[in-house]
Amino acid sequence: MADTKKSIHGEWSSRFAFILAATGSAVGLGNIWKFPYITGENGGGAFVIVYLLCIAAIGIPIMMAETMMGRRGRQSPINTLQTLTTEAGADSRWHYLGWLGVVAGFLILSYYSVIAGWSMAYVAKAFIGSFSGESATTINALFTDLQASPIEQTIWHTIFMVATMAIVARGVKGGLEKAVGVLMPSLFFILMLLVAYAMTTGAYMQGLEFLFKPDFSEMTANSVLTAMGHAFFTLSLGMGAIMVYGSYLPKDISIAKTSMMIAGADTLVALLAGIAIFPIVFANGLDAGSGPGLIFQTLPIAFGSMTGGWLFGLLFFILLVFAALSSAISLIEPAVAWCVEHYDIERKLACIGMGGITWLLGMGTVFSFNEWSGMTLFGANFFEVLDYLTANIMLPLGGFFIAIFAGRVMLSRHAQEELAIENKVLFSVWSFLVRYVAPAAVFLVFLNVLGVFGVFS
Ligand code: PHE
Repeated sequence: MADTKKSIHGEWSSRFAFILAATGSAVGLGNIWKFPYITGENGGGAFVIVYLLCIAAIGIPIMMAETMMGRRGRQSPINTLQTLTTEAGADSRWHYLGWLGVVAGFLILSYYSVIAGWSMAYVAKAFIGSFSGESATTINALFTDLQASPIEQTIWHTIFMVATMAIVARGVKGGLEKAVGVLMPSLFFILMLLVAYAMTTGAYMQGLEFLFKPDFSEMTANSVLTAMGHAFFTLSLGMGAIMVYGSYLPKDISIAKTSMMIAGADTLVALLAGIAIFPIVFANGLDAGSGPGLIFQTLPIAFGSMTGGWLFGLLFFILLVFAALSSAISLIEPAVAWCVEHYDIERKLACIGMGGITWLLGMGTVFSFNEWSGMTLFGANFFEVLDYLTANIMLPLGGFFIAIFAGRVMLSRHAQEELAIENKVLFSVWSFLVRYVAPAAVFLVFLNVLGVFGVFS
């Protein structure tokens, strides 16, 4: 019986613990590092509107679907899909959807760890006072030097992977839950401080305008895809991270409410990061569209010249590392949980294996900024290809099938029972969104990129 089943991996100790863990998964480099730079590259306000629409119409319903499926299956996404498929009497090939997620998790974590490594390098730079009183040019050079050095990046990437696997090895309560407890509130606090600083830069309004004033002439079909892909990425959807977290969720907790809270907190952090960063960019005459280096090249300028900048800079990068850690653990958890279930091995051993594979893959990203920078596919280096493939293709595709599964393959009665939404109208709204809106949106955005309609081309 599905409703008395518990996960062999343990359970969250409370509703709050789940919310923190899922928010920890959602809030990460995606919000603070990626959202500002892709917004900068895609023209600002119009991009933000499409992104927000995707969060509301696709993200929240799919987050509910993933959590609900996880809680009903109570295992790693691969085995959960297997169980739910049997329960629904559907085609057993659905469990490949779990595999798609596991592979996406490896690929994402491999580059995620390198970027988190940059953040660690910046903790060290902040600590020794590398930013104080320095010019924008000198601070820019810190970043280009880091990117040019495979050795420095490899060291940090290795440390980050080891830290991630050490937490995952300690399990759901002792590792995942404990780690997120302190990190999330502190991150929020520091972000507020930075927003307050940004208000004093003189370019505050210009920053806000860039972020919130839509100019659709800058939108391309690919920007729409990037906005949708980012909605999946930032909410950790489409690859089973939220599904596996859902499998540790105690029975009596409302999935609809928690999903909205998690999505709300995640969106708030992303917008605050934008509000903190763009005024600093404009006040210093920097380029908003400068790409992945954006926060590493802009924020240190602010830290370098503000009072107390040494401390804030140090805290900021420490918290960025923590935010990355609490997301990284969820990227590998589906694979680790599957290994434990399938091979009946210890968590520790599973972590060593899965962490090793990810680390190795990550070396590709390290080299993509130096030794292999000339090796490109359609003009994109290894890191850019991985990023595009995972965020823009694999996650939306995974989300598409998750929506179909939750809305059409599972019996509606089972979905309703697991979601436990008393209100019939609300359940119908959810059902409509996962059955029609989410899959159609993903499909249309894909077709649009292929040039079928030529909207925003
Ligand atoms: N949501 C995380 C972030 O914004 C990244 C992530 C993606 C985590 C997919 C888990 C699964 O940084």
